[in-house]
Amino acid sequence: MLDDILDYVENIRQRPVWQPIPDGVRARFRAAVPTMPSDLASVHDEFMRYVLPFATGNSHPGFMGWVHGGGNVPGMLAEMLAAGLNANLGGRDHAPIEVERQIVHWARQLFGFPRTATGLFVTGTSMANLLGVLVARTGALGVGVRSEGVAAGEKRLTAYVSAAAHGCIAQAMDLSGLGTGALRVIPTNDRHQIDLDALDRAIASDRDAGFTPFVVIGTAGTVDIGAIDDLAALARTARREKLWFHIDGAFGALAILAPDLATRLAGIERADSIALDFHKWAQVPYDAGFLLVRDGTLHRDTFAAPAAYLRRETRGLAAGSPWPCDFGPDLSRGFRALKTWFTLKVHGTDAIGAVISRTCQLARYLESRIVATPELELLAPVQLNIVCFRYRAEDTDQVNARIVVDLQESGIVAPSTTKIGTRLAIRAAIVNHRTDARDVDALVDATVAFGNARVLNSAA
Ligand SMILES: Cc1ncc(COP(=O)(O)O)c(C=O)c1O
Repeated sequence: MLDDILDYVENIRQRPVWQPIPDGVRARFRAAVPTMPSDLASVHDEFMRYVLPFATGNSHPGFMGWVHGGGNVPGMLAEMLAAGLNANLGGRDHAPIEVERQIVHWARQLFGFPRTATGLFVTGTSMANLLGVLVARTGALGVGVRSEGVAAGEKRLTAYVSAAAHGCIAQAMDLSGLGTGALRVIPTNDRHQIDLDALDRAIASDRDAGFTPFVVIGTAGTVDIGAIDDLAALARTARREKLWFHIDGAFGALAILAPDLATRLAGIERADSIALDFHKWAQVPYDAGFLLVRDGTLHRDTFAAPAAYLRRETRGLAAGSPWPCDFGPDLSRGFRALKTWFTLKVHGTDAIGAVISRTCQLARYLESRIVATPELELLAPVQLNIVCFRYRAEDTDQVNARIVVDLQESGIVAPSTTKIGTRLAIRAAIVNHRTDARDVDALVDATVAFGNARVLNSAA
């Protein structure tokens, strides 16, 4: 099994990025519960034939869709060790929790947070943003909100985020009981950053109308184009208005590791909480989302719930309080920290920072190729590692949507789509450490070839 998966990773470039699952293969996964045992080798053989070839493909250098990390071998091996240990990181006194605390400490160092700041591994940034909003909610309403609920209070809380924010922020408002209607979506400037004047106006008008503004959420690396809000200005606004300052840094926060990009994150060190994913730019295998909170006491007060069966001691296995389950809703928790620890230690953060810089250089190379290709048009300024463009055609949205499907089905490259304003864009997010200029060239050449073929076909 180890040989096969190492071969897979080593030879990934020879494979198609992605291929559709044939009906016959899909049907195999509708089989009944296996009541009888099977040979391990035969189950592994099934995996090799029917699972591995039809995976998402984000380990492949040609994968450029959404924001997916490429994974790495030390991280993969660490997953095997973690599964063998089978540690439960909800709590108790054992070394795996010290590994997680080590990462929390490194995160504090990276972002200039105090020693009293707390952190927690979660599935991904969607979850980390939700937990961040919940801590901010406790900050605004007090711990009483946990028993009384948001409806019991007098205050009508409002939150602020830019129009370029990820959809999970609205979902966090929904799930936290505050409601998406309490989220003020602020327009962006021409660099797709939150418009600070519009933010000020929205806060003032909400106060006039009797609302209680409680959190402003900045984005470090917007999902559509990789814009970074002016975090230092947002920190000032938050301080002046006495708002919680949360940052969605799903992928962009780790640009702190790249010396040529870190200054663009100025102000991140003043956030009250940061959500980020180690499984994106840091290449840790899925999943490794993370939340960092400046006020560790408030973080704990938001989630800790005493129970007789979770009693703490000063010695023995029940020592070591507080436990991770005091900082989030999960009691059973896997050892996500280990693959992160291995990845950071084996490669070192300088090398990860260099990968981050290189993906941004590749994005600029892609931008230059688009600008030099008459059939193509750039749709948004390239600020980080994401490039939005399209093939010029009549009925352009439909043609470009089809081109993206053609590209994915060709197995050559796999970008995704988004909308820039009203226009559908081909969106290439370069995240994978294996991607190089060949893949960028393949994307441009194949886009033009599929675009030309579609236009010719429709003319015929
Ligand atoms: C800016 C931003 N926020 C949040 C998310 C959601 O992160 P996750 O998929 O880890 O939940 C993403 C995902 O790409 C993102 O780009």
